[in-house]
Amino acid sequence: MLNEHDERDEGDGRCPEPGTGGRREHAVRVTLGTDGPMLIEGPVEVALPDGRVVRSDRFTAAVCLCGLSARYPWCDTSHRRRPPRSQRNAQ
Ligand code: FES
Repeated sequence: MLNEHDERDEGDGRCPEPGTGGRREHAVRVTLGTDGPMLIEGPVEVALPDGRVVRSDRFTAAVCLCGLSARYPWCDTSHRRRPPRSQRNAQ
């Protein structure tokens, strides 16, 4: 069975593309929703506070911003159980 994300500990083994000096040819698009995850064009590596680096090779990776995901840092749609921010702020 395929995992939703290709997660593995990459340590610090990142290699810049040859001849680019590590600089990308294009900007990476990041899309923020109002109450959901941050969507990032993949592949993407996420550096965690504990020093691990996890990677997703999907075309778009969904990074959890709500902190409820059981698959953190990846969104598992747990944010849908929370009331929308507009309702939380009104209380
Ligand atoms: S943003 Fe979706 S589970 Fe946190």
